[in-house]
Amino acid sequence: MQPRHTVNDAVSPLTARRTGPLCGRARVPGDKSISHRALILGALTVGETAITGLLEGEDVINTGRAMRALGATVERTGEGAWRVHGVGVAGFAEPRAALDFGNSGTGCRLVLGAVAGCPITATFDGDASLRSRPMRRVLDPLERIGARATLVAEGGRLPLTIAGARDPIPIVYEPPAASAQLKSAVLLAGLAAPGETVVIEGEATRDHTERMLRHFGADVRVEPVGAHGRRVTLKGQPELTPAAVTVPADPSSAAFPLVAALIVPGSDVILQGVMLNVLRTGLFATLREMGAVIEEIERRNEGGEDVADLRIRHAGLKGVEVPAPRAPSMIDEYPVLAVAAAFAAGTTRMRGLKELRVKESDRLVATADMLRVNGIDVEIEGDDLIVHGKGRAAGGGLVATHMDHRIAMSALVMGLASDKPVGIDDAAFIATSFPDFAGMMRRMGADLS
Ligand code: S3P
Repeated sequence: MQPRHTVNDAVSPLTARRTGPLCGRARVPGDKSISHRALILGALTVGETAITGLLEGEDVINTGRAMRALGATVERTGEGAWRVHGVGVAGFAEPRAALDFGNSGTGCRLVLGAVAGCPITATFDGDASLRSRPMRRVLDPLERIGARATLVAEGGRLPLTIAGARDPIPIVYEPPAASAQLKSAVLLAGLAAPGETVVIEGEATRDHTERMLRHFGADVRVEPVGAHGRRVTLKGQPELTPAAVTVPADPSSAAFPLVAALIVPGSDVILQGVMLNVLRTGLFATLREMGAVIEEIERRNEGGEDVADLRIRHAGLKGVEVPAPRAPSMIDEYPVLAVAAAFAAGTTRMRGLKELRVKESDRLVATADMLRVNGIDVEIEGDDLIVHGKGRAAGGGLVATHMDHRIAMSALVMGLASDKPVGIDDAAFIATSFPDFAGMMRRMGADLS
């Protein structure tokens, strides 16, 4: 039996029941991607970085613990307010024990990159979900940079031990998959290399690493490549200088109350300060094509990102085709989009979802199963997910969440508008990204118990 590493180690089933309209204003927690990067880049900076709005979810807390174990000082100074005293590029100290990333692929892969550029040896581990996810894809480019993976569990998985490069080599790298984690791992390792590290992506993925590196004073160039790609060039061995980080509200977390408001009749909800970085807003574009009205109130810039308050009211939706090139900009949103698609009239085909198979669970299968046990007609065809929406869901199913927070939240959202209640086997993993999810939804009127 693997350790679970959640806030609360007990399995906690939860059920969502059909409710009256969801109403009110709420702010979802800070963006998970930016929160991880703020802690990691803060730790690679000489001096002190103040962070506000940090997501205090288990995944990010584990990254903070890893930064401490590697020699940085990481302190909580108030709600969402943290201070990191960094050790400088390539300045990590060898940790005394294995670094435990719990459920988090992002924390693990980004820190692998940061450690790969330091002359230290460290062991990486995680929970049963993270132990099942591929790490070879990150180790390959990091070995080209000069790191060595000395012990790796079967199939290129955790636990693994990596010896960082003594003399890191700058590389030109084309990731085999559209993955911001892979790109970021290479850029973080490239910080310690002399000369230019280049990542060429065929499909642009979220650019928070590039933006934050610049914010901390690194020289990063980004050029378009082809129709959807980018070439990112980082000048190595910068002295990163401390800079305050304000973390905007996470669009991937906003997705859950947003879809809930769309499918629960009579709902009218405002979500405050949601980040609208175009590499993250594929879900909003798709829902608008399905007929949703997502009103942006007071679009503004906060901490270098566009944000707005989003007003969402219940609406009738129709099925659409979601093109494969859109996947990187909504990669974490397919489970909850599939729920919206179930409540739409007609078929929604989501194309090109191969990467969903290597998330916290095999999310392609977990999403299809979640819908199927609740009476929805759904198919997987190659890497496509096809949902035949009937404008309603029977519900009545118990959803297996497979240690996957996004399956858990999506299933609960579905239950708020289904004919019969929808149960999940375990709500504990919601704490990895959205600790107050149930509380926030209940304050809007949701029946979760
Ligand atoms: C993330 C990248 C995405 C996403 C994950 C967060 C990041 O994974 O699924 O939740 O912060 O870099 P990819 O590596 O597949 O892009």
